[in-house]
Amino acid sequence: MTSPRVIDNMQSSFKQMNVSSSPGVVSTSPTSSFMNAMSQRLSAAKQAKTLKPFSTGDMKILLLENVNQTAIDIFNEQGYQVEFYKSSLPEEELIAKIRDVHAIGIRSKTKLTAEILKHAKNLVCIGCFCIGTNQVDLDYAATRGISVFNSPFSNSRSVAELVIAEVISLARQLGDRSIELHTGTWNKVSHRCWEVRGKTLGIVGYGHIGSQLSVLAEAFGMHVLYYDIVTIMALGTAKQVSTLDELLNRSDFVTLHVPATEETENMISAPQLAAMKDGAYLINASRGTVVDIPSLIQAIKFGKIAGAALDVYPNEPAKNGSGVFNDELNPWISELVSLPNVILTPHIGGSTEEAQSAIGVEVAASLSKYINEGNSVGAVNFPEVSLRSLDLDQENTVRVLYIHHNVPGVLKTVNNILSDHNIEKQFSDSRGNIAYLIADISDVNMGGIKDIYDRLNETQYKISIRLLY
Ligand SMILES: NC(=O)c1ccc[n+]([C@@H]2O[C@H](COP(=O)([O-])OP(=O)(O)OC[C@H]3O[C@@H](n4cnc5c(N)ncnc54)[C@H](O)[C@@H]3O)[C@@H](O)[C@H]2O)c1
Repeated sequence: MTSPRVIDNMQSSFKQMNVSSSPGVVSTSPTSSFMNAMSQRLSAAKQAKTLKPFSTGDMKILLLENVNQTAIDIFNEQGYQVEFYKSSLPEEELIAKIRDVHAIGIRSKTKLTAEILKHAKNLVCIGCFCIGTNQVDLDYAATRGISVFNSPFSNSRSVAELVIAEVISLARQLGDRSIELHTGTWNKVSHRCWEVRGKTLGIVGYGHIGSQLSVLAEAFGMHVLYYDIVTIMALGTAKQVSTLDELLNRSDFVTLHVPATEETENMISAPQLAAMKDGAYLINASRGTVVDIPSLIQAIKFGKIAGAALDVYPNEPAKNGSGVFNDELNPWISELVSLPNVILTPHIGGSTEEAQSAIGVEVAASLSKYINEGNSVGAVNFPEVSLRSLDLDQENTVRVLYIHHNVPGVLKTVNNILSDHNIEKQFSDSRGNIAYLIADISDVNMGGIKDIYDRLNETQYKISIRLLY
């Protein structure tokens, strides 16, 4: 982080220069205070060994919807200005706040539409402190050079643990015994109650959650089979099978951990339920579209399936509340809730304190890396580009971050501009219409930085430019 004196100088000189990290800002000619600030900045950077073209105190981060304290701590350590709200903001207030922040952190309630994002003049990146990113207009953000990050896998362990709990609960009819006793009925039975040791767990989708689950299940003495469209190395003594039918035929418990895609829609319907062992159990904590629930209801009624645990549904209530899980939401709900040995949970697979804390760390780290180094690895709407850190022992090295339209001729133009200097390393990638180039160039003097900025800024392909030094 820079010293307070440098921060002041940088603030005033950047105001005069109008050089900014925001997309589309045009720079004017250098001033002597800018030159002074630049030299102080460069010498301070050498000591600090961090790469920031701005005083970190200038960076404004708006955090909404009570994002985890771990994220606030990380941003505070960076020296950013953090404005934090426990809830989402009404649209007008959001527009007023988003105008001049450099990064915004949200969860699922804040909708960042094109209409709202067009007011964000300085926004560099968005952090979704959750799994989904549907609440953001990703394409529009990309066209404005705004990268979006999320945390898709921080809650894998939480889901895997819930599923293990459900395997045992279904095998012992735990949900039913608990409901009975809550209503005064003592029903001590062992009929059709089982240990899970020695039984076979069939995992459909052996990704982050499926593979965690595989390890936990083996620790309970279960045999594990898995089916995945990709060939994946087994953990422990699990075995990959080549067809879904084989997995269904051989498993006592079938658990689903696939994404929602066209291929996985109603992946488990009447024919698949028929292919399962008699008295087998089905668990779905993936996405609500994966199971055809009316067919499942029939299979349970006929005794083909001995029980099911569902955490996700085709339609889910927008908010918590009594009476919201009803037939208006999905027409079969009253039938489903009346079935024995069916555990229903309100999409809580990933909802633990640990997962929230891990999400805070992961997203805040991604945003900080993007702000400080231009590293976009993990961005969901943007080319993923990274270069290893700059060696600040090298004199006058500058990192160029150039977000541009993905059209022919850009590299030639950009490299022509950079060619007066030594290009130490360079990486470029594209995603759809957007491309992103990072280059580290050495032996750049003060005037050189300004000149590079001005010339890149004039290129017709430019979406946004940042120079880090
Ligand atoms: N219940 C919750 O709260 C909760 C929390 C986190 C994730 N999820 C959901 O769990 C699911 C799995 O998450 P993950 O993090 O393990 O995902 P992942 O991407 O790590 O793994 C998914 C696996 O499914 C495989 N796959 C994709 N299509 C397939 C198909 N047609 N047939 C077989 N395999 C297929 C992929 O190859 C991959 O190995 C996702 O749908 C996710 O949205 C739910």
